[in-house]
Amino acid sequence: MSDENTHSDQAHGANGADAALQALKALQAEIQETVLDTVGAVDAYRIRFLSRKQGQITELLKRIPEVANEHKKRFGQEINAAKALVESRIETAAAAFAETETAKGPAFDLTLPGRAVAQGSLHPITQALRLITRVFESYGFDVAEGPEIEDDWHNFTALNFPPDHPARDMQDTFFIEAPSHAHDGILLRTHTSPVQIRVMENKKPPIRVIVPGRVYRNEAISYKSYCLFHQVEGLYIDEGVTMADLKQIIHAFARTLFGEDVKMRFRPSFFPFTEPSAEVDIWWKDENLPDGGRWMEIMGCGMVDPNVLEGLGIDSEKYTGYAFGMGIERIAMLRYGIDDIRILYENDIRFLEQFS
Ligand code: DAH
Repeated sequence: MSDENTHSDQAHGANGADAALQALKALQAEIQETVLDTVGAVDAYRIRFLSRKQGQITELLKRIPEVANEHKKRFGQEINAAKALVESRIETAAAAFAETETAKGPAFDLTLPGRAVAQGSLHPITQALRLITRVFESYGFDVAEGPEIEDDWHNFTALNFPPDHPARDMQDTFFIEAPSHAHDGILLRTHTSPVQIRVMENKKPPIRVIVPGRVYRNEAISYKSYCLFHQVEGLYIDEGVTMADLKQIIHAFARTLFGEDVKMRFRPSFFPFTEPSAEVDIWWKDENLPDGGRWMEIMGCGMVDPNVLEGLGIDSEKYTGYAFGMGIERIAMLRYGIDDIRILYENDIRFLEQFS
């Protein structure tokens, strides 16, 4: 730099009155001193000195003719040197800006591990309900639902429960309005079977539905019973439906849920609304037991009692049907190896997390 200044001093010194040389000197000073501390300042600087049309260097080149011949060469060299200085100062400033950007680092640290999104899971009861529903839907069953607050007629009478049947007892049933001479009681349904009645009230055969839902019983709470639980009811009414149809569909269902080699038995039983009635057991393998396992009851079922059909105006000479009802907690506990029903209702995240 000092070298170029010396040249310009000499040029100036030799032609003190020369305006073009004065202009060159002023320009050199400005090129040297302009502060380039922002990107905007650098842009303005570039335009001011280097712009092809109006840049001050271009302007100065146009004045070469004004310069005395013996100084023309030196004048031209000085201008080129000034231009080179502009370019190098721009480059240096730009490099400095780029460096501060890098030093600051990127706005995000891409090497940090991501923050996991906490994801909930379906409750094991919901999972079992959905699985069972899906299996029966694949056999052509529709899904129906009914109210959890029922009247005595749908929950008991229409299902052929005799008036003095022990299931009506206050000990089992949560009554909302106790039976009186004015009406026969409003209650929390004790099973999903009343929805059978509601479906048959509204639809003529053929009928093929399953009914998932919550039921309530006033029982002592223990590892195996709770005051509420879930059931899936099934009902199939058509011409010529037999016990063989019932057995085959339940067997197919058990194979889907418990494996192709599931061992299953129908054990004679009693329900007011079916005749004949049975309970279905599956063989639950358990190496720790002396027999290598034990029978576990998974549902009740049977052929719909003609009394039930006739009570709803369905001709029991023409139509027959089967019904079944299963406890979901029981099935979920078997499938997932849960040994205390109460844990299903405690909302313990350590338990629920295992079902995601
Ligand atoms: N409702 C019966 C219960 O809660 C279960 C049941 C048994 C339902 C036999 C049925 C059936 O549809 O046919 O214990």
